[in-house]
Amino acid sequence: MNDWTSGYAADVGYTYGSYSELNPLREKLAMLTAGYDIAPCRTACELGFGQGVSVNIHATSQPDTAYWATDFNSSQAGFAQLMAGASGAKAGLYDQSFEELCRRDDLPGSDPIGLHGIWSWISDENRTVIVDFIRRKLNVGGVLYISYNTLPGWAPMAPMRHLLTEHAAIMGAPDRAS
Ligand SMILES: C[S@@+](CC[C@H](N)C(=O)[O-])C[C@H]1O[C@@H](n2cnc3c(N)ncnc32)[C@H](O)[C@@H]1O
Repeated sequence: MNDWTSGYAADVGYTYGSYSELNPLREKLAMLTAGYDIAPCRTACELGFGQGVSVNIHATSQPDTAYWATDFNSSQAGFAQLMAGASGAKAGLYDQSFEELCRRDDLPGSDPIGLHGIWSWISDENRTVIVDFIRRKLNVGGVLYISYNTLPGWAPMAPMRHLLTEHAAIMGAPDRAS
């Protein structure tokens, strides 16, 4: 296991999806539907942006919002920065771990903070780091968007997961560490 990833598998690059759930305008709509008006979004933060497709789309289409976001996978962060350079997105995209980002004192508070596909995959220590980060960085009246996996949603994939686990156990190369 690599220490710098806290157990997260980082040797395979992530997919290139975009997720409209992270769009601050969609979050505002959800809040309005629930009966809450919220302040205009001036700063937005995304933790663990993957290849950075969502953050780039949202930053480019909402130029009045300053984005800052991180993903500790340098290759993915490099791709995200390349996209931002091409689109002119106003976004600070870093390759820092949640812990490193959390320690910075030069970053502003954020109106929405978004995490998509993060919570279910990280260690308890990293969850604690993120909770502390949200306590300090989410502006009063800001929205936190956090997704997580549940068994009812993922049950159809369980047989495939079982098959792949069995394949790795039987056919995979022995772990060099053991
Ligand atoms: C399952 S992917 C989700 C990516 C993206 N949010 C999406 O939904 O497409 C999780 C991402 O979190 C990043 N990550 C995991 N642990 C991290 C940590 N401690 N600090 C920073 N990024 C981390 C990974 O590199 C990966 O890109």
